Amino acid sequence: MLVTTKEMFQRSREGGYAIVAPDFWDSNSCRTYVETAEELGVPVILSFAQAHDDMLSVEEAYMLAKYYGEKASVPVAIHLDHGLDVETVKKAVDIGYTSVMIDASAQPYEVNVARTKEVCEYAHAHGVVVEAELGHVGSGDVITSENKEALHDDHSIYTDVEMAKQFVKETGVDSLAVSIGTSHGLYKGTPVIDFDRLHELRAALSVPLVLHGGSGSGDDNLERCATEGISKINVFTDFTVAAINATKGEDYINWYKLIKDANAAIKEKLKFYYGLFHTGK
Ligand code: 13P
Repeated sequence: MLVTTKEMFQRSREGGYAIVAPDFWDSNSCRTYVETAEELGVPVILSFAQAHDDMLSVEEAYMLAKYYGEKASVPVAIHLDHGLDVETVKKAVDIGYTSVMIDASAQPYEVNVARTKEVCEYAHAHGVVVEAELGHVGSGDVITSENKEALHDDHSIYTDVEMAKQFVKETGVDSLAVSIGTSHGLYKGTPVIDFDRLHELRAALSVPLVLHGGSGSGDDNLERCATEGISKINVFTDFTVAAINATKGEDYINWYKLIKDANAAIKEKLKFYYGLFHTGK
């Protein structure tokens, strides 16, 4: 059944756990995520990142997620991840996504507020919930066990607590992605998470908090994030890595077998994360 993330987050906050938001990029990953959630009897947030529109358009992604989501026995939210411009995010609302993210986190604060507010007004009028990001989860290096300096241009900027309070008040956003030490993609080493910052943000804000850049962030780190204040953890890269690792040794002559082995590895990885995040039913 299709739902928004509102009820999911209410339960996760009360239960002290997080829900994984796996990014799908084709029908195999989409179907595999729903099958996994059904096997475990837990909700799933099917996320599609606008940046992956070279694999699926925003419309195609919605049609796939709707198809599998509607007939699922568990709650399924269809989420536009990292909506990069207001026009596309509004289009996603019109198409039927039950949850959207407007990501203006790389813009100045005022621009981020203005874009988020505009999306919130539009989405809320259509019964759709909105996630925004303050601070910035980059895709470059962050502080890790092996690398003590941010080296990349697109570095992560930690979320400021007072600014976050102001941002939520000014925009009316439903959930907030915060930057506390993770980064998108692969790391050298394990990132150092600022748990004090997480606790301060959790205490200061009533909206659910979201962590991006889940892949490779360290199991202990992620479990603590899930149980100490984060309601949703976004994961993408780890599923692709699991698929590659499961298939790279073999000399396949059967394409179906390759896809099935990849799907099985993706399923196993998603089950692992549901367990790690203590996701409740
Ligand atoms: P990773 O690819 O690092 O898991 O990040 C995923 C993400 O944050 C999608 O929004």
